[in-house]
Amino acid sequence: MTDMLLRETAQLGSGETLDPRDWTELRALGHRMLDDMIDHIATIRERPVWQPIPDVVRAQFREELPRSASEPADVYRAFTDFIAPYATGNVHPGFMGWVHGGGSAVGMLAEMLAAGLNANLGGRDHMPIEVERQVVDWVRQMFGFPAEASGLFVTGTSMANLMAVLVARTCVLGRQARQHGIGEEGARLTAYTSKAAHGCITKAMDIAGFGSDALRCVAMDKSHRIDIGALRREIAHDRAIGLKPFLVVASAGTVDIGAIDDLESVARLCREESLWFHVDGAFGALGILSQELAPRLAGIEYADSIAFDFHKWGQVPYDAGFLLVRDGERHKDAFAAPAAYLRRETRGLAAGSEWPCDLGVDLSRGFRALKTWFTLKTYGTEKIGAIIARSCALASYLETRVRAEPRLELLAPVALNIVCFRYRAEDADRVNRQIVVNLQESGIAAPSTTTLDGRLAIRCAIVNHRTDACDIDALVAAVLEFGARRAASRADLTFAVQQATNSQSERQIQSSTRNNIF
Ligand SMILES: Cc1ncc(COP(=O)(O)O)c(C=O)c1O
Repeated sequence: MTDMLLRETAQLGSGETLDPRDWTELRALGHRMLDDMIDHIATIRERPVWQPIPDVVRAQFREELPRSASEPADVYRAFTDFIAPYATGNVHPGFMGWVHGGGSAVGMLAEMLAAGLNANLGGRDHMPIEVERQVVDWVRQMFGFPAEASGLFVTGTSMANLMAVLVARTCVLGRQARQHGIGEEGARLTAYTSKAAHGCITKAMDIAGFGSDALRCVAMDKSHRIDIGALRREIAHDRAIGLKPFLVVASAGTVDIGAIDDLESVARLCREESLWFHVDGAFGALGILSQELAPRLAGIEYADSIAFDFHKWGQVPYDAGFLLVRDGERHKDAFAAPAAYLRRETRGLAAGSEWPCDLGVDLSRGFRALKTWFTLKTYGTEKIGAIIARSCALASYLETRVRAEPRLELLAPVALNIVCFRYRAEDADRVNRQIVVNLQESGIAAPSTTTLDGRLAIRCAIVNHRTDACDIDALVAAVLEFGARRAASRADLTFAVQQATNSQSERQIQSSTRNNIF
């Protein structure tokens, strides 16, 4: 042993590890953390949805690398004072931005158990892998996929979509493409999606080596669904000029307005043209759990692969993305890579092939399956389906409120759980952008924005199981108030709204500090 190693080792007492010698204090701290976090979730309505991070708080996280130890209780204090009050806000029922799920307290508890087990789900023979296999089988049943289907948890739908593109690529070019690259044949491959598709599809084509130009973004119909006629024409045109169509990515819930492509027609077209049929169902695919919504997903059962997130409408805490592939062998073809150090046995810990690492990129994988298994077992799919149905009913309610209010304008049909609207004003893009910032900073509600037909929209995606009609009412009232203040004095525009927002934010920050249960 070198002197340096001896000196470093000498810092440790005999038998010292990272575990405490006496667990009493840590146990008490753990119980307090659990109580505090349960209280935090239970009283979430009493605090602002989100609040701006004061500079002084941000500055707390510009420290030097901590070389010496701190007391866990002091580290926890930094969490309660500086992290928890300034989180994204998606646990709160007033959060309606982007597409964020609300999670659940049960999911949180499961996450704690998973961290305790510290399981690595890349492979090997242990029950956590069986839990993931159980969830894979449930997902297979949900979507009516055959027994030979495979699936696995990933970070999110962006990753699941990328992996689907890679499976489709290996399927069309053969396994040798993994060794030789996509070559000349790969350079002629083209994929298709609608103009409303999420940007991660373009990114997936780029990362998979085709380049984003190989993705055709097809026109939409007036309901924002892929125009099947236009899709057919683009495919025919590409074939005519010597290109080789191989993949169609349909959307089950577009990111802007929640439109669901005509999946049956896309499935039929893919069958006729021998194309891989992938569905990006990031949030919409779980609509399959609602009796009301499931018929709108008809055709999804024919997909070659489906990507979606349990952390959105499934209410599982982040992250819990999922990829389901109809033909497990094709899935494995795209990712399995033998290695001496990953040798499989028929007995012992290295048994139980195939392993999840054969079906994806990651070798180290957390136990995302546990929080999902807990959520599905605890609530049952009928209740989750009812929660999903209710968020669509709330979106309809918001649509009704917008239509009834002359100062507001609906900017897109409400297809699912997303409502895009705006306050009528002369300089509407700027005014509505400011209204959204004001709403977020006020702590009343947190929608986001998007642009539809060149017009900026306030975009509300109702995903959280805690959101109720009172949250919709509070949002509408606040939009009208902030909008009216802007319209009242165009000269004092910025000043007036900033004053209003500042004082409201100040009140909210004070009240959040007051209501901070930690
Ligand atoms: C339709 C759609 N696809 C893909 C994604 C990306 O999913 P993730 O954020 O889980 O990577 C989203 C995110 O909201 C989405 O709405």
